[in-house]
Amino acid sequence: MADPVTLYEVGPRDGLQNEKAQIATADKVRLVDLLSAACFRKIEVTSFVSPRWVPQMADAAEVMAGIHRANGVTYAVLTPNLRGFESALAAGADEVAIFASASEGFSMANLNCTIAESLERFAPVAAAAKDAGVPLRGYVSCVTDCPFDGPTPPASVARVTAALRDLGACEVSLGDTIGAGTPETVGAMLNAVMQELPPGHLAGHFHDTGGRALENIEVCLAAGLRTFDSAVGGLGGCPYAPGAEGNVATEAVADLMDRLGHPTGIDRARLSEAADFARTLRSPR
Ligand code: HMG
Ligand code: MG
Repeated sequence: MADPVTLYEVGPRDGLQNEKAQIATADKVRLVDLLSAACFRKIEVTSFVSPRWVPQMADAAEVMAGIHRANGVTYAVLTPNLRGFESALAAGADEVAIFASASEGFSMANLNCTIAESLERFAPVAAAAKDAGVPLRGYVSCVTDCPFDGPTPPASVARVTAALRDLGACEVSLGDTIGAGTPETVGAMLNAVMQELPPGHLAGHFHDTGGRALENIEVCLAAGLRTFDSAVGGLGGCPYAPGAEGNVATEAVADLMDRLGHPTGIDRARLSEAADFARTLRSPR
């Protein structure tokens, strides 16, 4: 049998953050609970970001307080700054993520600062996470293409990955934010990034705008990556990335892993139930 693969479920955060109509806190909690029942080991629940920037995530503390925690599940959140980290800690987050960009245009649009400034801002978050014993995840966005700057040089992705590693990130998730990556550009990017961090510490995070997410995941698998982010029901999009459609659907990634013989531990019937519910939360497009 092939190696086990971790499906890192980001639907409740990446999937819902872009929804314009405010989703009831109870529905967000229900989605997370359905995902816990489907046996995910890693669930990104919400983000402690500015509610002025991402109004949909304004109830982060309430969502964290409402979920029913299952044994062995890591409930993770995004924390862009120390204030977000402190709120996340108070809410009992099991893992926090800092999120940088490989392109300057997206860094400005998403975090209102340059890449260098964002890394400076993340340093105290990383230090606080270390002191508190909370595992730190890092994201790099726009790993192949940026909606503002065009194609991203692989060396830029490698540089930001190394910076996140040096800050203490135990895993760096490589984000194809606008789903424009191809097997060729993803392969070239991985070649550069893997000079800095081995595949066991990397995750693939693909949006599926271009319909090539599954092919790109196969490229990552061949390179040795064993963790993939996805969103139940294919929810998703980033409010600061024009044209960013949904994350690759968890069901599709689970199908791919089944086909390739990589165990995921996911309860497929419960996953379908969660996906059906997730789709009801999406506003009509
Ligand atoms: P800013 O406007 O430069 O900074 O935002 P600020 O310090 O002036 O903060 C603005 C307001 O937010 C202030 O309130 C702060 O108090 C408040 P006001 O005075 O206007 O009333 N504030 C906060 N409130 C609650 N929690 C906080 C917090 N921080 C500030 N933690 C900032 C800078 C970083 C805060 C802002 O740009 C921000 O929150 N950005 C987050 C954007 C975001 O969440 N984007 C989506 C997630 S990233 C993504 O989706 C990509 C990913 O999926 C991977 C991929 O696909 O590539 C991860
Ligand atoms: Mg994303």
